[in-house]
Formats: sequence, structure tokens, C-alpha cells
Amino acid sequence: MLENINQTKQEFTNELQNTHDLQQLEQLRIKFLARSGRIGGLFEGMKTAAPADRPMLGKALNELRQYAQLHYDAKKADLEQAQKPKEIPFDLTLPGRMKNVGTKHPVIQVMEEIKRIFISMGFSVENGPEIESDYYNFEALNFAPDHPARDMQDTIFIADKILLRTHTSPVQIRVMEKQKPPVRAIMPGWSYRNEAVSARSLVAFHQVEGLYVDKGVTFSELKGTLVAFAKQFYGSSIKYRFRPSYFPFTEPSAEMDITCYLCGGKGCRICKYSGWLEVLGSGMVHPHVFKAVGYDPENYTGYAFGMGIERTALLRYGIDDIRILYENDVRFLKQF
Ligand code: PHE
Repeated sequence: MLENINQTKQEFTNELQNTHDLQQLEQLRIKFLARSGRIGGLFEGMKTAAPADRPMLGKALNELRQYAQLHYDAKKADLEQAQKPKEIPFDLTLPGRMKNVGTKHPVIQVMEEIKRIFISMGFSVENGPEIESDYYNFEALNFAPDHPARDMQDTIFIADKILLRTHTSPVQIRVMEKQKPPVRAIMPGWSYRNEAVSARSLVAFHQVEGLYVDKGVTFSELKGTLVAFAKQFYGSSIKYRFRPSYFPFTEPSAEMDITCYLCGGKGCRICKYSGWLEVLGSGMVHPHVFKAVGYDPENYTGYAFGMGIERTALLRYGIDDIRILYENDVRFLKQF
């Protein structure tokens, strides 16, 4: 009889292991645990056992019943749990959290586009220091000793004759000092002026300088290059004009205008009712500048130009206040 009990336990255990759904489990229950089942039958058999063996057999049988019930219950709970739909700890129907993806600042975008256009025309890109000496920023560029730009009112000085460059033109001097002609380079970077911040001007802003020096470079090449640039950058349908101007380091000098983006040339507040907007300064490199860097002005000619990047961004995107570029208002920056 004891052997029978052990065998029943073994069988129950094996069959339970092979039970994979609630239907099978119910059959197992009927087979072993129901009143007329195997365990019930064993209890029934007690009646015919020797009276002396009964306490021992009863104990073993009770243990078997407990064991079977316990494992049956546990298995039932497992199978029921597995049947339930999985509870998901979050709501899949909620809209996702949008990631804020950063973009390039409009000034950087404009800068990169200008670079791309000039690089495609064969220009290289050069850099120079933002802290400059009077020599590179003014003297070598043919500024007269009493030129108003050399005044504290217009220029931010750091020490005697040491200043924050007021334009990128000093990089022209540095490039020509280290390189023999031909030179064909653009020079982008920060520039600084001691000016009141307004809708039109900032204290710190970017410029990009251009310089082309070789034998026989002409003013018509200057025009051709700048017009080709303006058409690529502002669109092929723009109208442009060159106006005589003055810079100490170029002679002759000219400023380039394009038709106003807002009124298309009719005249409005943005273009001060002229219909035109200035986009850059330019001219043929002054012989004094060539002399300062040791180029022979009898042999070489060249042109130079410079434009403000922030102002270019205003023209390109139709923005009417330069300060908004550096307010870092995400609602503004997101539009680029
Ligand atoms: N450096 C001049 C400015 O800051 C621009 C310029 C550059 C003009 C090169 C002529 C040639 O206004």
C-alpha cells in the first residue's frame, strides 16, 4: 500500500508537469483529487489495511493529498494568470512626447550657404584672430591716422593699439602676408563695433570677407563674381546695382544693392522708400594695401568685398529687426 501511495505521488507529479492548460488540469483533478479519484481510492483501501499499519498509512495519505492539492492550486493559479490579457503599465493611445530636435542657427545657415557658393567658385576659406592690432585692423588697410573708426567711440579697445577687429578685412592682410599671389579666399568670422544696439546693428556680428588677387584682375570680374553670388543666394530674378562708395583699402569702391525683398522696389519702410537694400561693400584692392604686404601693385591687381552675415540673414528671410537673431526665442529659431 505504501508503495502505491509513492507511485501515485510520482504519477501525479509527472502528469502535472505535462499539464499545459486548464482543461488538462481539470482532468488531472478528476483523476487524482476528486472523491472517486486515485487518492480517494487509496483512502478507501485503508479499510482493508492491517490495523497496526493504519496510522502510518493515514499519515502518508494525508501528506499525499496535501501535496497534490497544493501543487494543483499553484498550477491552477499559474495557468489562470497566463490566460489573462497582459496588463500594460502605460497607455499606448497617449500621443508620444515630441523630441525637440535642434537645428542650425539661421546665421550659421546663411554663413554655410555663402561659403558653399564661394567654395564652388574656387575660393578657399581662411581665418584670423578676433583680437587684432591697430596695424592689421587699420594701418595696413590704409586707414588714415585720424580716421574716425580708430576712435574709442567706434572701436572696442583692449589695450593700447590692441582691439577687437571691427571687420574681417585684417584677415586679408594676414593671408597676403603668408601667401604669394594668386589669392582667392573668403574669410568669415566675428567682428565687433562699439555701437548702440538697434534694429539695424549689433555690437558683435559676423562678416565674410572675400579677396581675389592675381595678374590682370579687373573690376568687371568683381562685378561678375558678386552678381553670380547674389543670383545664387537671393534668387536669379533679383535686380541689383553697384553704387560708388569709399573704403580706405579699396579704390575704386562700390556698394552692391539688390531690390528690396519687402516692396520689390516700390519703396517701403524697410528700404527707407528707396526700393533698394545694400548687401555688401567691395572694391579694387588699394595699391597701399599691396605695398603693406609686399605685393607689387604694378604687377598685381585684385578685388575685395565684405558683407555682414546677420544683415544678409535679414534680407534673405525678410526679418526686420536684427536683435531677434540673438534673443534665442525658440518660436523664432524653430522657423529655420
Ligand atoms: N570691411 C568693410 C566693412 O566692414 C567691407 C569691405 C570689405 C569693403 C572689403 C570693401 C572691401 O564695411
